[in-house]
Amino acid sequence: MVIFYSIINPAKDLSKATYSIQKGLASMERVDKILSADNPIKDPANPKPLAAFKSDISYRNVRFRYGSEWVIDDVSIDIPFGSTVALVGQSGSGKSTLADLLPRFYDVEEGQITIGGTDIRDFKVRDLRSLMGNVNQEAILFNDTFYNNITFGVEGATMEQVENAARVANAYDFIVASEQGFDTNIGDRGCKLSGGQRQRISIARAILKNPSILILDEATSALDTESERSVQEALDRLMRDRTTLVIAHRLSTIRNADLICVMHEGKIVERGTHDELIALGGYYKRLVDMQSVR
Ligand SMILES: Nc1ncnc2c1ncn2[C@@H]1O[C@H](COP(=O)(O)OP(=O)(O)O)[C@@H](O)[C@H]1O
Ligand SMILES: [Mg+2]
Repeated sequence: MVIFYSIINPAKDLSKATYSIQKGLASMERVDKILSADNPIKDPANPKPLAAFKSDISYRNVRFRYGSEWVIDDVSIDIPFGSTVALVGQSGSGKSTLADLLPRFYDVEEGQITIGGTDIRDFKVRDLRSLMGNVNQEAILFNDTFYNNITFGVEGATMEQVENAARVANAYDFIVASEQGFDTNIGDRGCKLSGGQRQRISIARAILKNPSILILDEATSALDTESERSVQEALDRLMRDRTTLVIAHRLSTIRNADLICVMHEGKIVERGTHDELIALGGYYKRLVDMQSVR
């Protein structure tokens, strides 16, 4: 009996161990699938140099689809260096997709996107993306300090530069007011912050990176009116002196753009400045009337 009883526990452990091994193997398989997934965005064999960006961006007859339906259908836009181009249109019209094609999150299916006359697929992906700063609807933050979240992706930033970026983004005051200042942890995906604060941290990051091309995709959509105003000021400062592609559902954000493109079902149906489009009395006018921003 004694021998029998002393065998039971080790035998149980043994079966538990095989169970854990099975579980581990299953996880490994899934992790391995992600690690070995093929990335369809490839670097070219002979990449062209892309040092300082001072050129125009141009979309030429671009078509793109996720499945069988064209999401972007024969779109051409010229974005001169230093100008601001705004995309407006109802949700699902393809604005985010069109912006995502520029940093090559996806590749165009037909047509091409060029920078200074060179197809963006001829540059190294890393070089291309280093030109760009992205501020999105959903700020991408990490469970880390304010400091590390702002300096993410920028090497060798000094404390002074970080503080400056925070000031321009209207984030300095609430950071300094927090318990440990810039060393305060912001929680998983910034959960200890309000939506407006999260957005301002991601704007501070973009300011620190100081990109030549700025992509703003509904950067103020999740904010209340008060924080929207301070975020908007930060964005206006950020947009000065650089090429900007801005997507906004609030027309107040885009009134001052050099060119406004109105998208509908993957096509650009109207383009011009705010005043021209109002005078035209089409889609844009209807959008403005609906939101009654004047
Ligand atoms: N990752 C995706 N996979 C499949 N379809 C998508 C994906 N992202 C967007 N779409 C579809 O593409 C269309 C355009 O989406 P999107 O560019 O996000 O529009 P917008 O930003 O103007 O609201 C929508 O019909 C949407 O359902
Ligand atoms: Mg969108």
